[in-house]
Amino acid sequence: MKAIVLSGGKGTRLRPLTYTGAKQLVPVANKPILWYGLEAIAAAGITEIGIIISPETGEEVKAKTGDGSQFGANITYILQEHPAGLAHAVKIAQPFLGDTPFVMYLGDNLVEGTLEPLVDQFKSNTLDALTLLREVENPTAFGVAEVDAQGRILRLVEKPKVPPSNLALVGVYLFSNAIHDAIAQIQPSARGELEITDAIQKLIDLERKVEAYQLRGWWLDTGKKDDLLEANRIILDTCLQCRIFGEIDAPSQVIGRVEIGKGTKIINSTIRGPVTIGDNCHIENCFIGPYSSIASDVTLIDADLEHSVILQGAQVLNIHQRIVDSVIGQRAFLKEAQKRPKALRFMIGDDCQIELSS
Ligand code: TTP
Repeated sequence: MKAIVLSGGKGTRLRPLTYTGAKQLVPVANKPILWYGLEAIAAAGITEIGIIISPETGEEVKAKTGDGSQFGANITYILQEHPAGLAHAVKIAQPFLGDTPFVMYLGDNLVEGTLEPLVDQFKSNTLDALTLLREVENPTAFGVAEVDAQGRILRLVEKPKVPPSNLALVGVYLFSNAIHDAIAQIQPSARGELEITDAIQKLIDLERKVEAYQLRGWWLDTGKKDDLLEANRIILDTCLQCRIFGEIDAPSQVIGRVEIGKGTKIINSTIRGPVTIGDNCHIENCFIGPYSSIASDVTLIDADLEHSVILQGAQVLNIHQRIVDSVIGQRAFLKEAQKRPKALRFMIGDDCQIELSS
């Protein structure tokens, strides 16, 4: 079995972060989202992995993720010139996939648990498709499946007005080589994309064996800011280990599960976990509260924050109000000149969101 991980696309929902970088590389608990999927695939014993990349962000994905050796896998990069749909990504990956059955994993999804039970069900029931489904509260916003008592998928509907169930398609699928024929028989949808739901529906219409696997654990599509913060909270809660490599001075207090990277200095500050801080950060006169992830090379001086994600190289200086529920992009610079500023000076890029609340 092989795997393809989709790391192309536009990432419009996570703008402005995705103007300058791939959304799949946005870190959750200081690790790119994409890597969680790669680790899960490698842990299931699948070592031939193709990553679909776009012309805009492909080089960055390649540079960061490498040849796969860090995951114990072999990575092949497959360029998709335009984000023409999930089924289009499968189509261009066909030379890499050949006739081998494969896992398709959306590179911006985080899924709890392992892939082994899915692979087992797919193999033992000799399926043509297995899709991961999860109960959701708002099925009208998702691709939704109608499933019979045996777990067979009867019908798929994209963003239905009247949903046949509350079971949404999660971004993990397993396919036999029959999917390639199905994709060859579908047309682009109204939004101009080759939809994987249409290809799976085609398999169902051709009476191929299509089953569901219901996920009981969490699933996060990190496409939007609040989803990203929620993913960060869950991963910090469930996976973070205490590891301190940096220096903490005597007046500082580090409480709970906290990870501090190499070369990082914590000066006269309180860190209340779960918190992860990357390498070579300078943190002085700060309170860093629970569910915060601070990437490498970040400077925080006289700042107070919690439940926030700060990306690489950002600087936050002299901000006396608590920063909460925030995502601060790479190399961003925030500074308050004095305690009660008479004027605020900004250089704010397109699509940024700033709320000054009392
Ligand atoms: P989506 O989230 O469906 O699409 P998108 O990345 O264009 O996002 P947005 O809605 O924010 O504009 O894509 C799911 C995953 O699949 C994501 O990792 C991007 C990837 N993808 C491709 O690699 N090729 C494609 O043609 C599409 C549509 C998505």
